[in-house]
Amino acid sequence: MQIDIFTLFPDWFGWFQSQRHVRNAIAAGSELRYIDYRATTPLSGAQVDDTPFGGGAGMVLRVDVVDIAMRTHYGIDPVELASQRRVIALTPGGRMLDDALVDELAAEPALTLLCGRYEGFDERIVEHFASDQISIGRYVLAGGELAAMVICDAVLRKLPGALGDAESAVEESFSTALGGAPEYPHYTRPADYRGWPVPEILLSGHHARIHEWRLAQSQARARAQAAVGGSDSEGAGGDGAPA
Ligand code: ADE
Repeated sequence: MQIDIFTLFPDWFGWFQSQRHVRNAIAAGSELRYIDYRATTPLSGAQVDDTPFGGGAGMVLRVDVVDIAMRTHYGIDPVELASQRRVIALTPGGRMLDDALVDELAAEPALTLLCGRYEGFDERIVEHFASDQISIGRYVLAGGELAAMVICDAVLRKLPGALGDAESAVEESFSTALGGAPEYPHYTRPADYRGWPVPEILLSGHHARIHEWRLAQSQARARAQAAVGGSDSEGAGGDGAPA
């Protein structure tokens, strides 16, 4: 998979790219590219943003700056690009990221992520250059960079070769294998610590019964999460509707 990230802070991604599963994904053929909006801005003083028409607080990322950055990188009109690859604008009001959306993105050959800053994007960027808007939660970050890292992290670890154990991304929280429920609890040695024993079933060696127990635990966690309003079914914003 090829992921292009348009940002004002390409340096931020140095740490991200040094993480093991990201390095593994790159070694297995994925590519991450970082494109700095400032590198091609036609405005003086490396300007990329401007005050909002109609007044109000903050600055808005300019449409001409993003147009030229994308056009320079891809060599085509960005309006055409959205029909060739998913172009995702990171916005707090976008479709909520969840495991199903991560699977959907992981199946794509290429993604483009557009990070906003300040008050966000000039709406024409979203309207004409993006195929999708994605949010990582109902709160406002100072920019899209952390959201881009969250998406890349969640997507790359789904790709073959990213995780050490190929099974570990299959039966995990919110996966189809668990019916969308949170993952069951894990334990490791020591079997008893300060009088806190590991559930006996896990030491039994009875794989079918262990599997049953884990599914039941996962279901219990789903009910507990729903009870505190933490699941999609509780209307916590997981319906994919923009805010
Ligand atoms: N940019 C600012 N806040 C964001 C959020 N919650 N999700 C995605 N992009 C954002």
